[in-house]
Amino acid sequence: MANYDVIIIGSGPGGYVCAIRCAQLGLKVACVEGRETLGGTCLNVGCIPSKALLHASHMLHEAEHNFAAMGLKGKSPSVDWKQMLAYKEKTIGQNTSGIEFLFKKNKIDWLKGWGSIPEAGKVKVGDDVHGAKNIIIASGSEPASLPGVEVDEKVVVTSTGALELGKVPKKMVVIGAGVIGLELGSVYARLGSEVTVVEFLDVVTPGMDAEIQKTFQRTLKKQGLTFVMGAAVQKTDASKTKAKVTYKLRKDDSEHVIDADVVLVATGRKPYTEGLGLDAVGVKMTERGQIAVNGKWETNVPGIYAIGDVIEGPMLAHKAEDEGMAAAEQVAGKHGHVNYGVIPGVIYTHPEVANVGATEEELKEQGRNYKVGKFSFMGNGRAKANFAGDGFVKILADKDTDRILGAHIIGPAAGDLIHEICVAMEFGASAEDLAMTCHAHPTYSEAVREAALACGDGPIHM
Ligand code: FAD
Ligand code: NAI
Repeated sequence: MANYDVIIIGSGPGGYVCAIRCAQLGLKVACVEGRETLGGTCLNVGCIPSKALLHASHMLHEAEHNFAAMGLKGKSPSVDWKQMLAYKEKTIGQNTSGIEFLFKKNKIDWLKGWGSIPEAGKVKVGDDVHGAKNIIIASGSEPASLPGVEVDEKVVVTSTGALELGKVPKKMVVIGAGVIGLELGSVYARLGSEVTVVEFLDVVTPGMDAEIQKTFQRTLKKQGLTFVMGAAVQKTDASKTKAKVTYKLRKDDSEHVIDADVVLVATGRKPYTEGLGLDAVGVKMTERGQIAVNGKWETNVPGIYAIGDVIEGPMLAHKAEDEGMAAAEQVAGKHGHVNYGVIPGVIYTHPEVANVGATEEELKEQGRNYKVGKFSFMGNGRAKANFAGDGFVKILADKDTDRILGAHIIGPAAGDLIHEICVAMEFGASAEDLAMTCHAHPTYSEAVREAALACGDGPIHM
């Protein structure tokens, strides 16, 4: 048994970042992880592997669609799926071993195994019980299940199975037009699968700005994805190699069946708290199964904190990381803080989709007096040269004060462009502040400046 200032349970982006910050602040720290490798969902079966497959399949799309027009002729590359999976695995390995290196560098003990909390101040891993002045739970999330749908991770898969299929399926049905469904649906559509997305609502990516939702769905349709909207999936019937998906259309209750070689269930994720023993130790949960915390990430039990996907808020790696840093600072007696109003969201399709702050629909609902500045990538020289003119930047600003309230981008490098607006919002900037900042030419960033100009006297290139 060893005694620590802090023991963190879970080594995902919440847990490992928290551990490093605790060590930097001079605390004696250990991190418990039950997986074979560090990095959690994000590095092992989430952000990193999905982005590797998105990158590889995008390269194929570029070769097939845009190379000839640029004078790059010759045979298009064909897909060596085994090699693509090997590339993905190598990428995962580089990232997870990177965290192991950082743990060693920062003298963080990795307690290998599944942890539980027998009582406040103690963490049990295998037969060992360790003492901890503070315990931080960062146990993450797992795919939510859907009644009538049995996952076997071969034919009916969650995102985890979809990242390691035996082959590229001929027909894939994706249940849920959320972030996972559209990212991984895009991967397989680019690799040649016939992809049908079945979505309960009438819009894709619920909660996003409505104009972006419409443009995004239209763009994905052009890329070959088929959408069945307003459809509630009832059940799947799977054999060893095929499945049937039964859904009911909400508008007329009619029942339909589609065949698939692979069904991807992507209908959300839920907090993971299994085996932690939270009931016995008296930690309060929310109605949605999340660990309830206060503004300092403390649970109702003194000395026990929680961060990341296991508490409320968007299930995003960078949100977990920010909470990890802030909770570490709280434990060290400092004033850790997270600005939940400025957390960007990015979908890594092509074009990318990115957002921060309020949507236009939310501002309307709040009765806010706002203005909209929009600029199409068609007016951006760099985007035109790179066959990336589809999409736009939309900035929402307060009509009276000009302060930026939100931004929504669909277009090239949207996931990078959004950060300029995040920084502006952190500093309480106005749209004019952005518009008056010199932007290098020719860059995609000029489209952000033009949208800011559109909040005032108007954009130049439109
Ligand atoms: P996790 O990353 O889930 O880590 C929790 C860790 O705790 C796990 O390794 C688990 O094994 C361990 N654990 C749990 N219980 C115990 C226990 N009792 N003892 C020991 N160890 C335990 N987010 C983004 O921001 N960008 C993206 O591009 C993105 N892509 C994604 C793609 C996919 C396919 C998926 C599924 C998710 C994606 N996410 C993305 C979401 C992101 O992965 C999560 O928001 C993030 O990983 C949450 O971090 P966390 O630290 O809270 O938990
Ligand atoms: P999601 O919540 O984004 O989308 C789920 C979708 O499934 C919704 O559109 C919902 O209406 C639909 N749905 C629910 N029940 C249904 C049914 N019975 N029939 C048909 N459709 C149904 O969840 P998703 O895509 O599983 O992602 C989970 C989490 O992972 C998200 O919270 C996201 O933040 C995170 N993630 C983030 C990524 C990123 O930041 N790029 C990438 C992948 C995941």
